[in-house]
Amino acid sequence: MTTVLAIETSCDETAVAIVNNRDVCSNVVASQISIHKNYGGVVPEVASRLHLETINSLIALALEQAQLDWKAIDGVAATCAPGLVGALLVGLTAAKTLSMVHSLPFLGIHHLEGHIYANYLSEPTLETPFLSLLVSGGHTSLIYVKDCGVYENLGATRDDAAGEAFDKVARLLKLGYPGGPIIDQLAQQGNSSAFKLPEGRVSLPEGGYHPYDASFSGLKTAVSRLVQQLEKDHHVIPVADVAASFQDTVARALTKRAISCALDYGLNTITVGGGVAANSGLRKHLLAAAEAHNLRVLFPPLKYCTDNAAMIACCATDHLNRGHISSLNLGVESRLSLSQVMKLYD
Ligand code: KG4
Ligand code: ZN
Repeated sequence: MTTVLAIETSCDETAVAIVNNRDVCSNVVASQISIHKNYGGVVPEVASRLHLETINSLIALALEQAQLDWKAIDGVAATCAPGLVGALLVGLTAAKTLSMVHSLPFLGIHHLEGHIYANYLSEPTLETPFLSLLVSGGHTSLIYVKDCGVYENLGATRDDAAGEAFDKVARLLKLGYPGGPIIDQLAQQGNSSAFKLPEGRVSLPEGGYHPYDASFSGLKTAVSRLVQQLEKDHHVIPVADVAASFQDTVARALTKRAISCALDYGLNTITVGGGVAANSGLRKHLLAAAEAHNLRVLFPPLKYCTDNAAMIACCATDHLNRGHISSLNLGVESRLSLSQVMKLYD
């Protein structure tokens, strides 16, 4: 049995968790959203400072809630890529320091690998291979999960990430930040067929369209034009209908790509990870389509969809059990492909 304390500070949540194999002993998150929403998005410098102010008390709280002391911990991990450099440095420096003080192995973890591992917290018997649909504020990817640390990128967005599209559309509808949960709630009162919006496809040089890549910038522009036109015609903007039509278009686009990718690669399980995995429209469309094709879809519980450290600790446990340990010289990286994740270990 391996017990890991992990820290996640890649963006706007300061999070610490202790996980024993796939059992969560404690999972604490201090969200910075109430501060960043005054600026309409995450301000990197503010994020770093808030992580610094919160991290020590959160580590103490995680140990207290787990009713464990340092003698029970086998390793210390922190997200080291991708993310905001200043924010990542706070968590990484804290984890390295704790590993030195307590003579414990240190592991740097890839944030997206953490989102993949969120599924193991609710489905501990999940086995590779499977397809992972990662949909967050910064990423939209289809990943062939072959084994711990072995990933192949099969599809991605060519422009905006799915969560980014939700946030941008919410901004142009003047709904606040982060947009995903607000649009999701409004969409449930709206008519998803009210407006026909373009799904956005990626052309191939030889003709036709890329089956797994997505593009959301055209959809965002179409919503912007629709709002402008309605305003010009002096209509009250039917915000719930616009939100429902937009959400439905994104959910259908993601569902279509995930299903065809799973079928083409003979993978009968699709896991979903990242903040947009919380979206009710995506859950509805993907579950229905998977059932029709006899595929299994797993969504983590909502608290493990958005950024948290339990998923980072769960991922670190698997690496640690395989003898993967990082050097104390490991730095942070704002971008790092999942296919390069093993370069984090010596
Ligand atoms: O994974 P995450 O917490 O942070 C990143 O790694 O980016 O994802 C945050 C993103 C934001 O863009 C947020 O608007 C979106 O996830 N999000 C949602 C929902 N909840 C969060 N998008 C759609 N529907 C939701 N219910
Ligand atoms: Zn994330």
